[in-house]
Amino acid sequence: MGSQDPNISFKAALLETHGYSLVQPDCPVKLNQNECPFDVPEALKREILDETLSRNWGRYPDFVPTDVKEKLARHHGVMPESVLIGNGSNELIQATFMSTVGPGRGVVIAVPTFSLYALMNTVLEGDLRQVPMREDLSFDTESLISAARSPDVKLTVLCSPNNPTGSLISLTDVAAIAEAASGLVIVDEAYFEFGGQTSLGLLADHSNMIITRTFSKALGAAGLRIGYLVAHPDVAKEIEKVKLPYNVNMFSLIATRRLLDEGALVDERVSLIRSERDRVTARLAELPGVTPYTSSANFVLFRIEQSVEATFQGLITQGVLIRDVSHYPLLDQCLRVTIGTPSENDTFLQALNDVIG
Ligand SMILES: Cc1ncc(COP(=O)(O)O)c(C=O)c1O
Repeated sequence: MGSQDPNISFKAALLETHGYSLVQPDCPVKLNQNECPFDVPEALKREILDETLSRNWGRYPDFVPTDVKEKLARHHGVMPESVLIGNGSNELIQATFMSTVGPGRGVVIAVPTFSLYALMNTVLEGDLRQVPMREDLSFDTESLISAARSPDVKLTVLCSPNNPTGSLISLTDVAAIAEAASGLVIVDEAYFEFGGQTSLGLLADHSNMIITRTFSKALGAAGLRIGYLVAHPDVAKEIEKVKLPYNVNMFSLIATRRLLDEGALVDERVSLIRSERDRVTARLAELPGVTPYTSSANFVLFRIEQSVEATFQGLITQGVLIRDVSHYPLLDQCLRVTIGTPSENDTFLQALNDVIG
């Protein structure tokens, strides 16, 4: 039965939107989703599996995963009541939208940015205010402040480092936006480890702020779907009401607790990815007609003079999958490549050189 059935009445805005989608041809070098190129070490996987095997799978996980919340809270020097755990950070972003956005309620985002925010706004029929980034793809803080201070704005979303540009917003600017904003301000820090700057310290003075984090990028566990948010306990309490009960399964909760002990491994991997990012950026800048943007994340956005479609498809032919982001506002002629292992990065650079050469 299709949506043409007169008895089915989807929201008009939903029918008009394409939803979140991804072109995913099978390529040996996969640099299109900003994942970590290194898997969780096998010994660690076995430990997590062994602990999962020792549990009764017939029972629900804890109603409130207190031990994991406490561990995350200790990690960040906040109260456990400030922490919510999600089935990926996307789920907590969704819960925040559901608790604040609706018809006649304003949402402010800087564009181009992660497509989920606009999609959530569409589904919830909010009033989206898109603030373009500056020409150099830095955040236009003055315009964000003036949009966020409008009394009907209930949510402002800052993604820092921003996907897909890699731009970072300064802590002074985040604080100024949070100060001026008339509603909640999410700082999506999915890529924070690669930029090394966090807005967590601003929470104490700005109770309208929410920081979201994920295990999908630097922690290399995208397949486990683990994310969390940190907010003032009063804010976390309201968002918790929207979150589905038992949203994170037993296995992912065990993995979260265990992966939090792997700080040294994460640091080592992040530092390799950062140095590879700088190497890839420098090599891109040497290619004719290619202009990379400075990135504080685990990916690099670059503009090309050649055809985006032909370059993207040419790379696929060579077994390298990156992301075509040329349909985003301000990003015509742009592609985004995730930083992989050194040899994956070499394969990408060689393939790009061949395709555009
Ligand atoms: C900016 C940003 N936030 C959140 C996410 C989703 O993270 P998770 O896997 O924790 O749902 C992504 C994934 O690409 C992202 O780019």
